Amino acid sequence: MLVAWILGATALAAASLVLWSLRWGIGPVPTSTRVRKHLLTLLPDVFEGTIYELGAGWGALALPLAKRYPKHTVVAYEISPLPYLVLSARSKCAALPNMRVYRKNFYKAPLADAGLVVCYLYPGAMERLKTKFEQELKPGTWVLTHTFGVPGWEPLAQAVADDIYHTPVYLYRV
Ligand SMILES: C[S@@+](CC[C@H](N)C(=O)[O-])C[C@H]1O[C@@H](n2cnc3c(N)ncnc32)[C@H](O)[C@@H]1O
Repeated sequence: MLVAWILGATALAAASLVLWSLRWGIGPVPTSTRVRKHLLTLLPDVFEGTIYELGAGWGALALPLAKRYPKHTVVAYEISPLPYLVLSARSKCAALPNMRVYRKNFYKAPLADAGLVVCYLYPGAMERLKTKFEQELKPGTWVLTHTFGVPGWEPLAQAVADDIYHTPVYLYRV
C-alpha cells in the first residue's frame, strides 16, 4: 500500500513537472554551483532597488541572492507548482526576512522598482522580456542572465563559467 502511494505521488510529481515545462517552454533546471559562483562574482555590491528573480525554480539563485543582499528585498517568481512549493519551503526554512516567493507569471509582474533582475530562461522568453525590460526598467538597473542573453543588448560584461558547458554569463546595465 505504502509503495503504491509513493509510486502514485512520484508519477503525479513527474507529470506536473512535464506539463508545466511544456506549458511555459522550460523546465526547472537549476543553475549549477559553478555557474552560480561565477554569477555572484560579477554582481555589484552596492545598488538600490528590489532584486527580482524571474523563474526562480527550486531556489538555486534566489536563496544565495537573498543571503548576499540582506538589505534588499528579493522577489522570486515561479509558475510551476512543485518547484514553487519547494522554493517556498526552502525560503521559510532559511528564515530570510528579505525574501518573497510568489507563484506568478513574471510577464505580468511590474518591474519598475527593480535594481537587479536575474534570470536563466530560453531564447523565446528573453525576446519577450526584452520588450518588457525596455518598457519598465529604469536607467541604471542591472540585468544578469546566463546561457541566453537579452537579444540585441550590448553586455557591460560577458564571461564564461568554468563548468563543462562553458556557460556564457551576461551582465547588462539599462
Ligand atoms: C531554467 S529554470 C531556472 C531556475 C532558477 N532560476 C535557477 O537558475 O536555478 C526556469 C524556470 O522558469 C520558470 N518559468 C518559466 N516561465 C515562467 C513565467 N512566465 N513565470 C514564472 N516562472 C516561469 C520555469 O517554471 C522554471 O522553473
